[in-house]
Amino acid sequence: MKHILEELENRRAAAMAGGGAARTDKQHAKGKLTARERLSILLDDDSFEEYDMFVEHRCHDFGMSEKTVPGDGVVTGQGTINGRLVYVFAKDFTVMGGSLSLAHAEKICKVQDMALKNGAPIIGLFDAGGARIQEGVDALGGYAEVFQRNVLASGVIPQISVIMGPCAGGDVYSPAMTDFIFMVRDTSYLYVTGPDVVKTVTNEVVTHEELGGAKMHAKVSGVAEGAFDNDFEALSQIRRLINFLPASNREEAPDWPSFDEAERQVPVLDTLIPANPNMPYDMKELVRAVADEGDIFEIMPEYGANIITAFGRLEGKTVGFVANQPMVLAGVLDIDASKKAARFVRFCDAFEIPLVTFVDVPGFLPGTRQEAGGLIKHGAKLLFAYAEATVPKITVITRKAYGGAYDVMASKHLRGDVNYAWPSAEIAVMGAKGAVEIIFRAEAGDPDKIAKRTKEYEDNFANPFIAAKRGYIDDVIMPHSTRKRVVRALRTLRNKELSNPWKKHDNIPL
Ligand code: HXC
Repeated sequence: MKHILEELENRRAAAMAGGGAARTDKQHAKGKLTARERLSILLDDDSFEEYDMFVEHRCHDFGMSEKTVPGDGVVTGQGTINGRLVYVFAKDFTVMGGSLSLAHAEKICKVQDMALKNGAPIIGLFDAGGARIQEGVDALGGYAEVFQRNVLASGVIPQISVIMGPCAGGDVYSPAMTDFIFMVRDTSYLYVTGPDVVKTVTNEVVTHEELGGAKMHAKVSGVAEGAFDNDFEALSQIRRLINFLPASNREEAPDWPSFDEAERQVPVLDTLIPANPNMPYDMKELVRAVADEGDIFEIMPEYGANIITAFGRLEGKTVGFVANQPMVLAGVLDIDASKKAARFVRFCDAFEIPLVTFVDVPGFLPGTRQEAGGLIKHGAKLLFAYAEATVPKITVITRKAYGGAYDVMASKHLRGDVNYAWPSAEIAVMGAKGAVEIIFRAEAGDPDKIAKRTKEYEDNFANPFIAAKRGYIDDVIMPHSTRKRVVRALRTLRNKELSNPWKKHDNIPL
């Protein structure tokens, strides 16, 4: 018996060693943790249950029979985050660069299947060089099996990808189909093909960082939902994110203990809006002031920063905040902001997370770049997402709600459940200046007349009362009472029932 136990210990030790001490040292020298070290930070102490530690690849080509490492370059299993079940896989770069063989893919598929069956989130930690080149089509098939499961799990369980090293070739598309991609600054790169291939094909010379670094994806491409400074910070933040999320679309997000008074007044909000309507203010102050204990988790803070998307809680229950940010591009809706917010709204709707929308939007961004980039289709994504969402929708217009953007931002007409406006709200087809220039074009040469017309337009339209008279706004509220009014509204909507007509699926303007 002793002999058998020893054999188990020896086999375990071989698997735990991964690619060996030298490769582990190399990993550390690059500022990266190993797969197992990462899981020990991500998961609660002593909660990790590993599967398939002894799985080995079955490839015999190119001398691979002599190159087997138990576990085959990916550590998979389950554990808990603050006591809640999650499934995990972590690519082990020390074993053949974390490359994907068929056996490696089968391990990932197994935890994907278990996560879906048991209704728990799945978190993938990526640090890998793509398809195991020696395996050929088996590796390609393995990837497709993973992709298929990503798609089936989409909208059923939260799927999170963290890019913590190279992530190239076949490894990019699984993260791309998950709900959130986070990257680690300076040590992670995400691209379909690396700089060498780029040079060969296009003759373009680029660095890893320029081509697929965290700065680029979190700010420019929008492929990543966020970036963190190092492995530890990234993993700690994923733990925090998980706390906001339900385990699946069959469950509610967990109630989080809060010492924040539910109907707390926020006097400082009465002076948030500057006297000059063209002066910006920080909408994040409003989001933080309203959220329980000011605690929010921003999604895509750097990309499309003219709109804020963040998870927060009210009365201990998760909500999704969407808010135009007047500090950036005056809070206008452009392609990036529309895509960003649309995806966030759809995530919230899929997982029954109520939406709280704060509106201060001068309209859609005009111009050839936006039109040529497809603003119409991208703007329509946000419109579509809000219109199809059946979760509770609370909207507060703080200042501008102009034109089509008024409609889009969870207006009453898109089944907004409770729509409020602050006294400073201006709900109109467009701003006074633009409106007067069009309606009174004949008087353009007379500045006095134009000033008079502008004043007239402002007096008549730059307020919330015309919309309130029509019932498009349920009430005009004092800014300091915003948290209280939103909390009360959400309480009334806990048993909301609303469904869309049966369909196989919709055809959102992709
Ligand atoms: C097999 C691989 C590998 C791979 C790396 N290794 N990538 N083994 N298949 N795809 C091995 C190396 O041989 C090496 O083994 C170890 O991993 C570490 O690799 P290094 O190159 O020494 O590391 P580094 O210098 O840090 O460079 C990392 C890298 C580079 C940038 C990821 O390894 C690289 O470019 N790899 C190939 C990327 C690629 O082209 N993948 C195929 C994509 S095609 P030893 O034994 O020396 O430690 C693809 C198609 C799928 O994925 C499409 C599905 C839809």
